[in-house]
Amino acid sequence: MSQLYDSIGQGYRRFRQPDPRIAALLAEGLGDAESVINLGAGAGSYEPSSRRVLALELSATMIAQRPPDAAPVVQARVEAIPCADGAFDAALGVLTLHHWSDQVAGLREARRVSRRQVFLTWVGYPQRFWLDDYFPEVRAADEHLFPSLEQLEAELGPLRVRAVQIPWDCRDGFLCAYWRRPEAYLDSGVRGAISTLARVPDDPAAVERLRADLASGRWRERHGELLAREEMDYGYRVVVAGP
Ligand SMILES: C[S@@+](CC[C@H](N)C(=O)[O-])C[C@H]1O[C@@H](n2cnc3c(N)ncnc32)[C@H](O)[C@@H]1O
Repeated sequence: MSQLYDSIGQGYRRFRQPDPRIAALLAEGLGDAESVINLGAGAGSYEPSSRRVLALELSATMIAQRPPDAAPVVQARVEAIPCADGAFDAALGVLTLHHWSDQVAGLREARRVSRRQVFLTWVGYPQRFWLDDYFPEVRAADEHLFPSLEQLEAELGPLRVRAVQIPWDCRDGFLCAYWRRPEAYLDSGVRGAISTLARVPDDPAAVERLRADLASGRWRERHGELLAREEMDYGYRVVVAGP
């Protein structure tokens, strides 16, 4: 996994900026926590500047993209966090769970070092997402990789779950972020900063089909009603465990 991010992480910061509306939901989840460990911290998105933060990240490529004023970072695996029991008020994990090689071990470690755990994760599409028409293998891969709410609850205890509405102009370019900006998926940089798209072999035929449907008006015919929507629920959730 460190290798995946050491290769796809190159342009990460350009396309994966924190979105302020998602940041607000995460801040609510963190509540009054003063000390936070950011697990799978990447380039530092969503690290709250008003709290004491330690970042934990595996990939050197991602660490190298952290701004000079970002929180201190330790290069380590979530499955073996080099910190004492109860060292943090909260653990934060933003779109990282699905990458952990041992999710149970990582969740136990999160719970060991923190009182409260806050994750942004994905629980499956509550409705169809048109990208499925072009890259159907992506959903299958994600369904396999992301833990279910039941699996999270088994390790973390009772959860508070909040649906995240994805704004049409979401600044954080994760898989569903461009639901109203379909042309974005034609950009190999955009696709390269989305791990599940980067992981499946790049399919020029799928990209060309999307390009043709956009040019011919077919995409608009089938999904044009989305252009009037401001936000959509595509299965992203803020999940909070602990007091
Ligand atoms: C999609 S990125 C998210 C990064 C950041 N949280 C954000 O929101 O921009 C997932 C991150 O998890 C890191 N990661 C994956 N497996 C890990 C592990 N076992 N231990 C620590 N970090 C890990 C990856 O290197 C990558 O930086």
